Amino acid sequence: MMQTHIIGVGGYLPEHVMSNDDLAKVVDTSDEWIRERTGITQRHIIAKDEYTSDLATRAGAQALEDAGLSINDIDAIVVATTTPDMIFPSTASMVQHKLGGKGFPAWDIQAVCSGFVYGLAQVDGMMRGGMFQRVLLIGAESMSRILDWQDRNTCVLFGDGAGAVVLESRDDEGGIIGSVLHCDGSYRDLLLAKHAHPGASPHNNRLDLNTDAAGVAAVEMKGNEVFRFAVTKLGEVVKEVLEKYDVQQSELDWLVPHQANIRILNATAKKLGLSTEQVALTVAKHANTSAASVPLALNDIYRAGKVKKGQVLLLEAFAGGFAWGANLVRWSK
Ligand code: UT7
Repeated sequence: MMQTHIIGVGGYLPEHVMSNDDLAKVVDTSDEWIRERTGITQRHIIAKDEYTSDLATRAGAQALEDAGLSINDIDAIVVATTTPDMIFPSTASMVQHKLGGKGFPAWDIQAVCSGFVYGLAQVDGMMRGGMFQRVLLIGAESMSRILDWQDRNTCVLFGDGAGAVVLESRDDEGGIIGSVLHCDGSYRDLLLAKHAHPGASPHNNRLDLNTDAAGVAAVEMKGNEVFRFAVTKLGEVVKEVLEKYDVQQSELDWLVPHQANIRILNATAKKLGLSTEQVALTVAKHANTSAASVPLALNDIYRAGKVKKGQVLLLEAFAGGFAWGANLVRWSK
């Protein structure tokens, strides 16, 4: 039976590192508060002349190299991002061009922090259906560009970066076992960025010549409400994906979670009976890189040589929308 396998992994983090102490110089916060409440110690920030597509291109190039492939071997590029270079064209089309590709399809996915998990589910379905043999899937974000740097409730939480995988469809055991996705649009007001610029929302109505609303973006979040919902729903979705694909909790080797808050990660790991050593942890160094966080966490344990052939990985994420989901993968590389 045709299965979708991860055959290459890559990641890229912008050079500039901003520590909690650096942040405390611009907003009323402290290293102690950020560490204790979130587990974050630093985050990477995109350079002034860089774009999300640049981060994505670097991560994608590393994943291709890791797979031993060139861009000409790829049938499609999918980029999960909530911080595209422009409203259009898609960031994926720019990445295709920057990598030297042409002709094959390229498109973006928007499911905020769950973008990579959604993307893996979507691409896996298409590949099982026989549409593509090899796909480059990337999660890439420049969250620093849509933060209100005066709002300590949100600006301390996020960072920039990109992670990528090359997927191959082949008649071989292992690979993506399956996925579960959810969304509940009624929670929109708890986590959103409604003034995103450039954006096509009514807030940016350029026909109203009096408005200067077409301006800065701002993530807004009711943190503790999101926290509670995330812990509950992630606890449910990890059980659901195990049940759906008949995988026992005891078979799990790795949790590769979205990196929003160490306390949320620990709650999910506890629910699954996993030890700290079985959790891919990058939140301390990367903070929350939204759609990039799951592939960057995967890249981290992969490059450290910790992931072994045959091991079972559970990927999960929770996002604005609210949109959440999980993927099960049997490592076959
Ligand atoms: O990726 C998408 C999913 N996102 C998430 O999953 C994020 C979920 N939420 C969280 O991770 C946590 O709720 C936060 C880290 C955002 C906040 O932690 P909390 O324990 O829920 O704190 P809180 O919002 O209840 O705030 C506690 C206090 C407040 O002060 P008062 O009202 O008790 O006096 C805040 O004003 O901490 C204050 N506070 C800060 N103090 C110093 C909030 N942010 C900061 C800050 N530095 N950066």
